[in-house]
Amino acid sequence: MAEIGSNIAFAKQLLESGELVAIPTETVYGLAGNALNEKSVLNIFKVKNRPAFDPLIVHVANLAKAKEVVDDFCDKAEKLATQYWPGPLTLLLKKKSHIPDLVTSGLETVGVRCPDHVLTQSLLQQLSFPLAAPSANPFGYISPTRPEHVNEQLGDQIGYILDGGECRVGMESTIVGFDLNDLPVVYRLGGLSIENIESIVGKVSVQLNTSSNPLAPGQLKSHYAPKKKLLLGDLEELTKVYRSRVGILAFQKEISTISSENQLILSQRGDLDEAAQRLFASLRTLDKLDIDIILAEEVPNVGLGKAINDRLRRAAADHKN
Ligand code: TXA
Ligand code: MG
Repeated sequence: MAEIGSNIAFAKQLLESGELVAIPTETVYGLAGNALNEKSVLNIFKVKNRPAFDPLIVHVANLAKAKEVVDDFCDKAEKLATQYWPGPLTLLLKKKSHIPDLVTSGLETVGVRCPDHVLTQSLLQQLSFPLAAPSANPFGYISPTRPEHVNEQLGDQIGYILDGGECRVGMESTIVGFDLNDLPVVYRLGGLSIENIESIVGKVSVQLNTSSNPLAPGQLKSHYAPKKKLLLGDLEELTKVYRSRVGILAFQKEISTISSENQLILSQRGDLDEAAQRLFASLRTLDKLDIDIILAEEVPNVGLGKAINDRLRRAAADHKN
């Protein structure tokens, strides 16, 4: 198991010597390494068991540092960064040549973001290089929102987990790129709502891949998936068919016919931000229960509800397809 603590100087030392450290962000924990060190980057892919065609996000402390990674910030990108960084927004922009092709899987664009977490901000400010960091989970599994989640799955392979407590947003960053006319395109729904993005740059298009597209593998249909089978639908109806050895992931209310021990509620008061914050930890808890199947329902499709429903649908997609 990895050591867990809040020693920034130790994390810095490990990263400077090319090792990997799990870092807290407001979205999910990241598995970080020096983005400019190819050996560290290769090791990230290895530890996560991630295919080399799936590019990594580069983390920096602020907009000025992002400009050292990216060639040109279009007007709308700059507006979004100014408004929402640090925060759960990743921008896809043309990479500068010193960013290794390994990081971007050979693409011309790089995903860049400034995480909003006090420990990781402090770490980034002290480092002379940016951090490449995918979510700190084995490829295809649910992202970690607590240090123990990282330790359970990757603890044997990394030196240190920087303990920043529970992630505040709990959902990965929203990924925004720009088309040839510099119009914003959302490639992954996440912790920053479409409504918030549109309030700054106007209408955006959303291009989520639901089929196997090697260029955006985080968008594979089956992803963010628990090991147990998950069915998504009307819980009252589902529980008429599946009555025993089931776990329930409900938005606001328990189902009266199922034992409370096997039910998790995302937000009793119907708050979608709270639901997003709890989603991944709840899926992990259900995955560990002595049950055969997880039954879940969609949440209202507004604000972070869109990202929650996106993750639930992917979690429900059959692994074998
Ligand atoms: O909130 C987050 O974004 C977290 C924290 C740790 O920052 N990171 C994260 O990274 O979710 P990861 O690697 O699990 O997901 C990154 C997604 C992948 O689906 C990848 O395909 C996509 O971003 N991506 C990264 N760079 C890209 C690029 N240049 N073009 C298209 N997609 C890209
Ligand atoms: Mg991920």
